Amino acid sequence: MFRLLSKQSQAAVVAASAASGFTISSLMTSKEESAVASCENPTVVDQLKEIADRVNSIEKTLGTVQDSKNSIKKAEAYVAPSSNSKAKSGIDVVLGGQWGDEGKGKLVDILSQEYDVCARVAGGSNAGHTIVVDGKKYKFHLLPSGVLNPDATCVIGNGVVIHLPSFLNELDNLANMGVDYKGRVLMSDRAHMVFDFHQEVDGMAESKLGRNKIGTTKKGIGPAYASKISRNGIRIGDLQNFEYFEERFRSLAEATMMAYPGLEIDIEEQLAFYKSIAERVGDMTVDTIQYTNEAYHNGQKILVEGANATMLDIDFGTYPYVTSSNPSIGSVLTGLGVSPNKVSGIYGTVKAYCTRVGEGPFPTEQIPDGPDSIGHHLGTVGAEFGTTTGRQRRCGWLDIPQMQYSVLINGFTAVNLTKLDVLTGLDKIKIGVAYKYNGKYLKSMPACLKSYSAAEVEYEIMEGWTEDISKCKKFEDLPPAAQKYVLRVQELLGVPVRWIGVGAGRDEQIDRGEGWDLK
Ligand code: IMP
Repeated sequence: MFRLLSKQSQAAVVAASAASGFTISSLMTSKEESAVASCENPTVVDQLKEIADRVNSIEKTLGTVQDSKNSIKKAEAYVAPSSNSKAKSGIDVVLGGQWGDEGKGKLVDILSQEYDVCARVAGGSNAGHTIVVDGKKYKFHLLPSGVLNPDATCVIGNGVVIHLPSFLNELDNLANMGVDYKGRVLMSDRAHMVFDFHQEVDGMAESKLGRNKIGTTKKGIGPAYASKISRNGIRIGDLQNFEYFEERFRSLAEATMMAYPGLEIDIEEQLAFYKSIAERVGDMTVDTIQYTNEAYHNGQKILVEGANATMLDIDFGTYPYVTSSNPSIGSVLTGLGVSPNKVSGIYGTVKAYCTRVGEGPFPTEQIPDGPDSIGHHLGTVGAEFGTTTGRQRRCGWLDIPQMQYSVLINGFTAVNLTKLDVLTGLDKIKIGVAYKYNGKYLKSMPACLKSYSAAEVEYEIMEGWTEDISKCKKFEDLPPAAQKYVLRVQELLGVPVRWIGVGAGRDEQIDRGEGWDLK
């Protein structure tokens, strides 16, 4: 196995082994040594798997070595316990495959009951979902919904931007509703802070753009990420050294007031507020990178709850009508600090139709012009209003080229198709299957919004159904036309549709299980 590695990797393995007190031969069993010596012929896949296992083992060993030397008290206090869960260990991810609000929350809510760690990795309080359990309504913006599982630990990863006043408020509301979160909510010391003035700047920037505005949530997300990238941002861990925090806060606040004439920041009042919460925040602040990797190595199951969605990704979305983070698969690695070989299930959530809030092109949009229009049906039956802003969402038909792009970027292993019941009652259902520009078929989504806005959509028309599907428990219970619709979506995406949402309730969901045949 060792000889399969490049020279650089061999050097890295030797160095890592030395640091961990292992020798290369101690990493190989005698059977492996003799297999290498006699040049048996394992398949390339077997060999790669073996390499991955070995790298994991080295990382695990190094992690242990680091542990004993670690001087960060808090992180030590939060060493992840071994898993009691029967489910497979590893990291699974739920991501949004369209423009957001696909209904990720419901799947995450159901799945999170089985996971030991639930994490957020990107975005901030621009995301939002409502969960109803036993008649109680919980609204989350920053917290992973796994907080409702009393056995789960919630991690807010380094890639998230945190507005502490709202976050602490969210925790207080939760406590008022009888949820004991103490000791189960951890924030990354490397996550950046969103300040009130970032939110004001968000609003000012939108006003300046006038009719070209992005339509942001005004939660300060863009300005906070801008501070991070400009390297004058302030991180959660900085609050633990108040002198340092104060110095950086004064400098950031003054620079922002200079950049935005008319903006007033009461620096003293803000500093007093942050001083008053520093201890409470400190109790939840840890090196979540160390924590998460340790949890993984201890065999725990980790669920990443994606926020926002792929088409709002700063790199892959409909720029500039996007958010300021990477709410696609890459953020699991950069926003949590884990390596790609730890990720297993990548569950893409898409609605059975399509919605978007804010501005920007939307090729399959159906303007709600009258009570009989498709746009009106989707908006009212689907109750399409934002959790965070209350804004009415724009609605349209399913857009396959857009979703194929999401599949390409994220490598979904299964699809969670939500709100199929909203299509009930429509005589005909359209699926956008191709884009055309200047009479020619497009192979992918145009980057330039001028071309994208001018793209025409080619549709397939499918039969609708009238039966109530909310009581369907198995795929076979669905009316034939609904089955055909799901199978066609699956065929066009080339990814198994595992979950199908048939109603708003937690149990109104069909789960086909793993490995559903694509045919
Ligand atoms: P920001 O993230 O507040 O900067 O907003 C940028 C764009 O992303 C706007 O069009 C928002 O409406 C949209 N957006 C941000 N978060 C979400 C979400 O969770 N669901 C849907 N749209 C979102």
